Amino acid sequence: MIVQQNVSLKAYNTFRLDVNAGYLAVVDSLEDLDEIYQTGRFRAQKKMILGGGSNLLFTRGFTGVVAKNEIRGIQVQNETEEDVLVSVGSGENWHQFVLWCVERGYGGVENLSLIPGTVGAAPMQNIGAYGVELKEVFHSLEAYEIKSGKTVSFFKEDCKFDYRFSIFKGELRDDFIITKVFFKLSKKPTFNITYGAIQETLEKMGVTELTLKNVSQAVINIRQSKLPDPIDIGNAGSFFKNPIVEKLHFEALEAQFEDIKCYPIDDEKVKVPAGWLIENAGWKGYRDGDIGVHHKQALVLVNYGMGRGKDIFKLSNEIKKSIQGKFGIELEREVNVV
Ligand code: EPU
Repeated sequence: MIVQQNVSLKAYNTFRLDVNAGYLAVVDSLEDLDEIYQTGRFRAQKKMILGGGSNLLFTRGFTGVVAKNEIRGIQVQNETEEDVLVSVGSGENWHQFVLWCVERGYGGVENLSLIPGTVGAAPMQNIGAYGVELKEVFHSLEAYEIKSGKTVSFFKEDCKFDYRFSIFKGELRDDFIITKVFFKLSKKPTFNITYGAIQETLEKMGVTELTLKNVSQAVINIRQSKLPDPIDIGNAGSFFKNPIVEKLHFEALEAQFEDIKCYPIDDEKVKVPAGWLIENAGWKGYRDGDIGVHHKQALVLVNYGMGRGKDIFKLSNEIKKSIQGKFGIELEREVNVV
């Protein structure tokens, strides 16, 4: 296992924040996890596991051990005429896995193209985009119990998936490390192109026949046109969740703000796009030194270069306060703050 001491984490978080880790250990097996958590010299240190670093805001350095997950491997476990069960090491890059599926004609994850991060982080927050959520293709996962070093299986019901949520973000936070994820993918895919601009983008691309490749490419095009690439501008995708509000509250807002948008949830609740709220509170394109709110998507906070995590955190509090004041809605952060 490769271990470095006193390392900058700038290359390991998509906000590109320049903070230091006491140690950075590259973990690619269960034995490595045992060495860090059970037997080796780090037992007494604080530890955190790091995937792609794409949903993280470092407000300070981390004095203990940062374990970078590089657990790899993609394998077909079982196959029928209809579908295929695939196991994926949690350190695999999510988008590379999506491309692997698209290449082989395995459907279900194409709408989730180009989401940054690792496969292991995907179930943590039930990633979603363009009308599809991870839970729809999720079969089960294996996770390393930090306390005991044992591997435990979790099936779909065990994970308590919800909008950008799972048990691993809730009651089991910090108890397990996801090591392997099993997906059930379809060999006879049905396409989900009703959401957002997919249809329109496919038309623009001149697509006449729907294929996994075309849909994946349409999603890639939309994301690239709206979301900043962390290689150019540091960011962690959506910074806040889209808030779920009472219908009555929404109707009162609609009377005041005619073009406010919502997605139905149930008879009593709707989901309101936080991007709309933030834009209409005047924050879109806001910049203070090297931090700000992206000019094309107000839900994305950005670091233009030398920005600091604490300032981004402070800005997020100011945005929260302003949305509370103007719309009476409480925004909740989607990113994990360290
Ligand atoms: N909007 C604005 N102003 C903005 C941004 C958005 O008015 O600056 C409005 C749009 O016009 C649209 C609505 O808000 O009517 C929704 O916008 P968009 O389709 O861009 O999606 P979103 O709700 O802002 C969510 C996810 C994204 C995901 C997209 C597409 C959350 C927190 N975010 O964003 O996920 O890619 O839908 O499905 O649910 C992520 O989680 O990091 C992420 C990027």
